[in-house]
Amino acid sequence: MEKYVIHGGKPLSGEVVIGGAKNAAVAILPATILAGGKCLIENLPCISDVMASLQILSELGAGIRMVTRNIYEIDTTNINSTEVSNELSRQMRASYYFLGALLGRFGSGQVAMPGGCNLGPRPIDQHLKAFTAFGAEDSVEYGQIRVKADHLVGSHVFFDTVSVGATMNAMLAAATAQGTTVLENVAREPHIVDLANFLNMMGADIHGAGTDVIKIHGVKQLHGCNYSIIPDQIEAGSYMVAAAITKGDVTLRNVTPKHLEPITAKLRAAGCEIEEFDDALRIRRTGNLHPLKVKTMPHPGFPTDMQPLMTTLLTLADGTSIVTEGIWENRFRYVDELLRMGANIQVDGQVAVIEGVRKLRPAPLRATDLRAGAAMIMAALSADGISEVDETIHIERGYENIVEKLQLLGADIRRVEAPRNAITRAI
Ligand code: EPU
Repeated sequence: MEKYVIHGGKPLSGEVVIGGAKNAAVAILPATILAGGKCLIENLPCISDVMASLQILSELGAGIRMVTRNIYEIDTTNINSTEVSNELSRQMRASYYFLGALLGRFGSGQVAMPGGCNLGPRPIDQHLKAFTAFGAEDSVEYGQIRVKADHLVGSHVFFDTVSVGATMNAMLAAATAQGTTVLENVAREPHIVDLANFLNMMGADIHGAGTDVIKIHGVKQLHGCNYSIIPDQIEAGSYMVAAAITKGDVTLRNVTPKHLEPITAKLRAAGCEIEEFDDALRIRRTGNLHPLKVKTMPHPGFPTDMQPLMTTLLTLADGTSIVTEGIWENRFRYVDELLRMGANIQVDGQVAVIEGVRKLRPAPLRATDLRAGAAMIMAALSADGISEVDETIHIERGYENIVEKLQLLGADIRRVEAPRNAITRAI
């Protein structure tokens, strides 16, 4: 077990290079199964969710060759199993993408049935709705979900709710289904477009990704390709908050400013100065923070994965902010940690009312999930004195080298070994 020890109160400055998008990578890696050949994937973030996906591919029979830390060659020619082991599929929720990919190539797939998680219930009914529309049957046995089809036929699917996972899984299964598929009310996140681009590079015929209707003409077979994953929108947004909360001046390299617009707009409204370049962005804050109203929504709305970070920033605004969580039922669990730092926040269901305070005070903190963990780091960076963040395993699922990247920006943060339950907490 590791924890981070952070001596906060120093403005961050300098440059940080943003890695590849986690939520694109965890769909693109299973998608390589559809190639039945070799794919070279570049800009893969070196994070534990990616490592788990590579391990699953390897266990299924794929050849994995590391070219560099962020480039892997994956050969899915000799995959000889359609069942993801319980142990590996439970390490990562996104293992459900193996269902769509295995179903598309082999007509069957099995993973552990995902349960609820820290963010609230996480049903997959919309994923299954699409698979069923394509002619598959599903069954659950001893915690495993199995999908099976003699052959897949394209269909018209109207999703009841906008879901990133269901949109991606339907694309994976439909790419080689016979005939045409139309998916309506789909998610429009940058990673949806990235997956569609990757599938098209492998020979698929997918149009409309990035709008709310996607049309897929099924092709007989896909083939391998070389592909570079887009930059991570949420990692970038997290460093923007790091700059904003410490009154810093940070330039982000390897970003797509267009993908960051929902975040940029809110940070500008909060008083940050932001300059956009082709693949870089500079953020500075010199004045006070203005309070905001923020509601998380599917893209191009404000992303839910930025919500804990934005709420944390707004604890220091001059006045009252209101943050409404529009995607997940239970995404304010980290607020208790901020209260122990002196923040003034009241949560009622999906709404947090935040009265800005002048300073957060250092405290021992816990990463309750991935993005909440990142938010705790930002809170600690802003507080004068030494804070500790434990349960960092959540953070390392999605942030490559976060300690080293923050150190390069001048943060006083280090990893230390923490024996289990060694942290005494003032409650
Ligand atoms: N939903 C259903 N039925 C379904 C699927 C989803 O009711 O079949 C509901 C969910 O309960 C939720 C909403 O629809 O209320 C949106 O869920 P979505 O399917 O879009 O989420 P996801 O695909 O499971 C991905 C990201 C999350 C991110 C959400 C929303 C990955 C691996 N995860 O999850 O990322 O919060 O989209 O943008 O792509 C994170 O990176 O920290 C993270 C949690």
